[in-house]
Amino acid sequence: MRQLASAIHIRPMTHHDLPKVMDIQRVAFTNPWSFDMVQKELTQEWSTVLLVEEDGPGGVEVRGFSIFWLVTDEMHLLNVAIDHAHRRRGLGRLVIEASLEKARAHKCRIATLEVRRSNDAAIALYGSLGFRAVGMRPAYYTDNREDAVVMIKDF
Ligand SMILES: CC(C)(COP(=O)(O)OP(=O)(O)OC[C@H]1O[C@@H](n2cnc3c(N)ncnc32)[C@H](O)[C@@H]1OP(=O)(O)O)[C@@H](O)C(=O)NCCC(=O)NCCS
Repeated sequence: MRQLASAIHIRPMTHHDLPKVMDIQRVAFTNPWSFDMVQKELTQEWSTVLLVEEDGPGGVEVRGFSIFWLVTDEMHLLNVAIDHAHRRRGLGRLVIEASLEKARAHKCRIATLEVRRSNDAAIALYGSLGFRAVGMRPAYYTDNREDAVVMIKDF
């Protein structure tokens, strides 16, 4: 099992974190969410944004985030990204596990998500967390008409 540094924390995002979250968004996605889209998630009662951060040489640094909705007994995972320089260190898994923990506490029955068909890294990560592919949404992503794989996890 991978050894994570003890100086890694998970916490809810605040408005102060918007610039750093946008920096990570812009590098992580070909079609990133806008500032307004991320900001709106902070105002919606059903939405949660969790950050994974780490004590660095210059203080605490945000490494990535997870955005999800809890609606009745369903969790919908909308957006996850880790700072490019800190990938493959288990941080993506950590922030999604923390998100799933929130969903469990909310008594969710299932978690759902859509992911680009070509996103092998994310599909492998979700699969290792118990998500299974249950269908395809053809041409779901408007930028390049890429299909989405629909994945579901039962709690
Ligand atoms: C997908 C993403 C969040 C994964 O974050 P991460 O912190 O690098 O992932 P982890 O280190 O926790 O990896 C956990 C497991 O996922 C799988 N995985 C992660 N990256 C992978 C890659 N590039 N190729 C294959 N498998 C990968 C592996 O099974 C890995 O376990 P291992 O390292 O022990 O083999 C990150 O690559 C990212 O930010 N991508 C761009 C944004 C994105 O595509 N988000 C998802 C769609 S919303």
